[in-house]
Amino acid sequence: MDTALRDGINWVGYVDWTVRDFHGYRTERGSSYNAYLVQDEKTALIDTVKAPYADVLLAHIDEQIDPASVDYVVCNHAEPDHAGSLTRVLHVCRNAELICDEKCLAALQTYHDSREWKVRTISDGDELSLGDRTLRFVTTPMVHWPESMATYVAEDKVLFSMDAFGQHIATSRRFDDQESIEEILAEAKTYYANILMLYGRPISRTMNRLGPLEMEMLAPSHGVIWRSHVDKILSLYNRWMHCKPVAKVLIVYDTMWNSTEMMAHAILEGAMRHDVEAKLIDVRQTHITTLATEMLDAAGAAFGSATLNTTLMPTMAAALTYINGLKPSGKVGFAFGSYGWGRGGALDVEEYLKSMRMRILRKPLRSQFRPDDAILEECREAGEMLATEALEIVAGATTSEGES
Ligand code: FEO
Repeated sequence: MDTALRDGINWVGYVDWTVRDFHGYRTERGSSYNAYLVQDEKTALIDTVKAPYADVLLAHIDEQIDPASVDYVVCNHAEPDHAGSLTRVLHVCRNAELICDEKCLAALQTYHDSREWKVRTISDGDELSLGDRTLRFVTTPMVHWPESMATYVAEDKVLFSMDAFGQHIATSRRFDDQESIEEILAEAKTYYANILMLYGRPISRTMNRLGPLEMEMLAPSHGVIWRSHVDKILSLYNRWMHCKPVAKVLIVYDTMWNSTEMMAHAILEGAMRHDVEAKLIDVRQTHITTLATEMLDAAGAAFGSATLNTTLMPTMAAALTYINGLKPSGKVGFAFGSYGWGRGGALDVEEYLKSMRMRILRKPLRSQFRPDDAILEECREAGEMLATEALEIVAGATTSEGES
């Protein structure tokens, strides 16, 4: 396996072929926990791996250098998928200093017993000379935790970008030009939607701060290393961080005795009368990971639920809780659904839409029991409105893009 980013910089991480769940995010294609060894007069290990794979990381280091010769272990992020093996790694790399900032150290000390550690805390912009190379630390708060940072090597034009630009994908190859770029970009989008969508503003600040750096390689902590498609992933992040919409609307529903499903199909029919991509999504058949990815660039979405025990269906509640947490911005939509005698699921669905700051296009569209022709026609009209509003949003986003 080709692990060399540059002469003296090697990937030494762990490819996790079997992981299928990342706190609710379904990782159908596995993942990797990337760590990098930078060898110069001094040697630095950039990040570690999940705790169970510490010895694999140490074996990879041992192929390059005696672990006792590692001088620095840089921790860019305290989350256990990258820092979980620090206790073991610092025990074996017994002469290494841990390099991290104060916030990171505080977080690490809640997971690890740090009494034996040699620690050097750094701040944003600090540099650490390795000899001919120098590490520069760039704090990137909320990308993905408050203490997150990136490490830059100007001499090599390499940025160790931590979670940013990552993808949950296990492959036997390490670089973006060694795999199907379409598949890598699709996984990068899914990763952004499910891990980073909430943090658009911090990502925007980070992108501004990284802008002046010359970056020939982006080496994230998950997935492949960007070296041939750096401009492409940077340009996609510039879209994703604003949830820039395309002409796409979603009709997302859960149903009990098909009444809400009939309404969903009628809304779809109305939306399809206009030049938008319209997608019907049954939340009981579609994982929330996919739904979040679709939401990232949808311009609008109608969410519908039948009524169960006076409120919305549990699968829809789970989906809306997840999407609400990610706060997709700039969307329009409305709630719909059937009810019998209780308050009605659609009313509770609307509360979620308000919470996610969606622009609500109309009052909840409701049907008592089975929808009749009049309600189905109202659904078609609502679908048309969803599509036309979506097209206006896209036209507005395109205009402002042209102005910027
Ligand atoms: Fe991949 Fe925020 O850890």
